[in-house]
Amino acid sequence: MERYAIRELAHHIGETVELNGWLTHLRSSGKIHFLILRDGTGEVQLVLKEGGNGFQLRGIERLADLEQESALRVEGRVREDRRAPSGVEIDGVVVERTAPSPEYPIQPKEHGVDFLMEHRHLWVRSSRQAAILRIRARIIHALRNFLDEHGFIVADPPIITPAAAEGTTTLFGIDYFGDPAYLSQSGQLYMEALAMALGRVYSFGPTFRAEKSKTRRHLTEFWMLEPEMAFCEFEESLEWQEQLLSAVVQDVLVHSAGDLRLLERDIASLARVRAPFPRITYDQALERLREVGLGLEWGEDLGAPHETALAAMFDKPVFLTHFPAKIKAFYMQPDRQRPEVVLAADLLAPEGYGEIIGGSQRIHDLDLLLQRLKENDMDPAAYSWYLDLRRYGSVPHSGFGMGLERVVAWICGLEHVRETIPFARTLNRVWP
Ligand code: 4AD
Ligand code: MG
Repeated sequence: MERYAIRELAHHIGETVELNGWLTHLRSSGKIHFLILRDGTGEVQLVLKEGGNGFQLRGIERLADLEQESALRVEGRVREDRRAPSGVEIDGVVVERTAPSPEYPIQPKEHGVDFLMEHRHLWVRSSRQAAILRIRARIIHALRNFLDEHGFIVADPPIITPAAAEGTTTLFGIDYFGDPAYLSQSGQLYMEALAMALGRVYSFGPTFRAEKSKTRRHLTEFWMLEPEMAFCEFEESLEWQEQLLSAVVQDVLVHSAGDLRLLERDIASLARVRAPFPRITYDQALERLREVGLGLEWGEDLGAPHETALAAMFDKPVFLTHFPAKIKAFYMQPDRQRPEVVLAADLLAPEGYGEIIGGSQRIHDLDLLLQRLKENDMDPAAYSWYLDLRRYGSVPHSGFGMGLERVVAWICGLEHVRETIPFARTLNRVWP
């Protein structure tokens, strides 16, 4: 007898098979019992006739003693059932409980979010949460696949760093054998060094921000994809971003269709995500926002309500470009015609998900970079290696950072980023 994953069963109709999994639901009607078994690849219904041919229980007296989430080994025959999500049903004969299981804390009733987050180590077993994590995995696969196919080399920046990449206010400090060091907010500065070595590079890894924001978009630990391209100016970087995101969304629509359905995601808006994306400048954005009663002074940063209102004016993701230099990072290239704005873009997702990518062309002129460090009260000595990149063979280069959890939240249509990562780290939570 062969053992299969539930996902594979549709190819084995008529065979007697062995399955391993966990019990999610049990319903009995007289001597007929219906068990739903899950194994991470899917769910399948098992029909058991007590006293039927070969019927056998091992490790338990009665099926009624099985608690939700009991670990089971099952034998039975695969029968086609077109109405079932897995396409099959199992006519079960043997059910073996491999370990006793007390009453499961998460019952099929409405639990509050705090309770669920406190039990996140168990909550990840629910069909919704498992679907989200499978989609997250598919998104990661599609992102890497696109970049690998387009000649980007994956190269990993360090996580323990000596200085800030994005600003000193959100650094997590650590004691590095008596010296101060920080958890990386972004691998960008290192990716710039690697782009000068390898041409086109990307990293994908965890980044950390001590953000005191309790919003549905902020985590203190999140995963960022950071491509960096040598000999690449601002406009070309935007093209890479829209190509990449379109490829990923279209891939997920094909390969995660079942999981998107399970999440009841409306996919019409995702289907429209195809390059090119609209672009508007910060100045144009202020004008459009004023028209809808969300006026800002020039030089003020946009908040979540502004981003949501702007995104709602377009039916695709939209690039917001040419921000005032003073609200952006020190390394961004000023516009030649208007040095008070920088060649930076935020990509805003539709449906209120806000900024999913932040990117820019980087300053490649040594003197200008030194000047910008001073204007930002930053110590050039702490960035001496970074300045070397402008001393030796400096070239125009650009890159961007995509926040994976925000992309997952948007593609899955979720209320909050805490469900997009296996174990979310937020202002108030480092457990479990
Ligand atoms: O816009 P950010 O701060 O850009 C950078 O860090 C650049 N150095 C990246 C680069 O050019 N290589 O962050 C990039 C993205 C944001 O657009 C957002 O999607 C995500 O990272 N992000 C967060 N996601 C979850 N929680 C947070 N606290 C986040 N902060 C940023
Ligand atoms: Mg940003």
